[in-house]
Amino acid sequence: MRKDFLWGAATSNVQSEGAYLEDGKGLNVYDTLVVTPEPGIPPMFCSTDVAVDHYHHYKEDIDLMAEMGFKAYRFSVVWSRINPMGDDEPNEKGLAYYEDMVDYLNEKGIEPVVSLVHFDMPDHLMRKYNGFLNKQVIEFYADHVRAVVNRLKGKVRYWLTYNEINLCTHMPDLVSGVIKPEGMSDSEMGAQLIVNVLTAHSRAVEIIKEIDPAAKAGGMCGSSAVYPLTCKPGDMLAAQFRNQMNNYLMFDVMTEGKLPDYFVQYLKNRNLTPVFTEAEQAAVKHASELIDYLAFSYYQSSVAADFEDITDPVAKEDAILKDTRRLRNPNLSANEWGWQIDADGLRYFLKEMHDRYHKPLFIVENGIGRDETLADGKVYDDERIAYHAKHIAALKQAVEYDGVDLIGYLAWSPFDFLSSHKEIRKRYGFVYVNRTFDDLLDLKRYRKKSFFWYQKVIRTNGEDLADDIAY
Ligand code: BG6
Repeated sequence: MRKDFLWGAATSNVQSEGAYLEDGKGLNVYDTLVVTPEPGIPPMFCSTDVAVDHYHHYKEDIDLMAEMGFKAYRFSVVWSRINPMGDDEPNEKGLAYYEDMVDYLNEKGIEPVVSLVHFDMPDHLMRKYNGFLNKQVIEFYADHVRAVVNRLKGKVRYWLTYNEINLCTHMPDLVSGVIKPEGMSDSEMGAQLIVNVLTAHSRAVEIIKEIDPAAKAGGMCGSSAVYPLTCKPGDMLAAQFRNQMNNYLMFDVMTEGKLPDYFVQYLKNRNLTPVFTEAEQAAVKHASELIDYLAFSYYQSSVAADFEDITDPVAKEDAILKDTRRLRNPNLSANEWGWQIDADGLRYFLKEMHDRYHKPLFIVENGIGRDETLADGKVYDDERIAYHAKHIAALKQAVEYDGVDLIGYLAWSPFDFLSSHKEIRKRYGFVYVNRTFDDLLDLKRYRKKSFFWYQKVIRTNGEDLADDIAY
């Protein structure tokens, strides 16, 4: 692997910080939304008031990252900490907090990679404006980006405009602060939202490059390679369509600067005419000329299949996109939450991305959620080690055999924190945080076995992936 490869890990601060009303922070959508449990999983949600108290433990948490040898750490600036209501003035204490964090990371030689929105839109922007469905919110977001980039310019090299922007239609409330208006169809809302969030992304890219031309601006999607369930041509077409709409649409626009033909046709076939002004189209075009790299999260692959009984092509496409059959790949195992583990899928997806875009790529999330317990101060998380070892081996093949240009690998996550469904049970960290879903205990940090394994991986620049750690 190249010498400057960015090994490290990533978090979302809204899922880790807590201190939810401290130092002027306002409530955001993650704080206030009632989450739906993942299918088949009994709800055991935590409140976000303390989370894992990263707000007060951040130096200790960064010290542990430094001990693992991190070259980079991705975190998010919580929008409602920077601007509590979203349509108001920036909160000095919020800006100062993240500046201190960035300074501390730089002091430790860890490259900060900063996400500008990650499930943390101020709740007020959802209630009053209906989030990114309202174009005014794009301007509030631009103000937020401007405030943060102005404050951290010269200190942050890698920016991510919008976490998992492509999930805006799957989880509109959490990802975009949007509640579907009465009488509006899913596709009508989806079309407008896609155009709006892409405009928001583009405005962010423009602002970043204007304020700090040396900084690198990246777009980010939640990615999952889609395979056909069988080699039937209908299944092939179904998988191709899902890949276009779920995996590539956003990246296509980010790099081409216009809506791709398949999406224009998708809109036309449904008589959808989202408002996309000339100025917005110009911003999208401009941003596509400025964007530096493409980033994505990868946890699992998925499968798609034809709906043979549906003959109308539009109805068929809609069924493929909304598929609720929970199709499984019979060749893969899964974690307790049913997420299917597929390291080769990461290599496959990296190749597809490289061949399609020829841009530097950055894996900014990859990991496995496990229900773990502490015994005598230790956590033997061999499954996590196996998961990361296989995925790192796969990305090395993509680099060394397929010629993929990869900037770095950020595992999800350095320490345990709440899942997107507000669960502490679903742990991802190399460091265990001592709390349960209803008891904060002492929030003490413990190094899991994987901590020492990942330390060795980084030390050997990915050469030694063996699980031979004495723990
Ligand atoms: C990504 C998000 O969707 O996946 C993270 O960017 C999230 O915020 C991660 O935590 C893992 O998903 P989950 O639902 O297990 O937390």
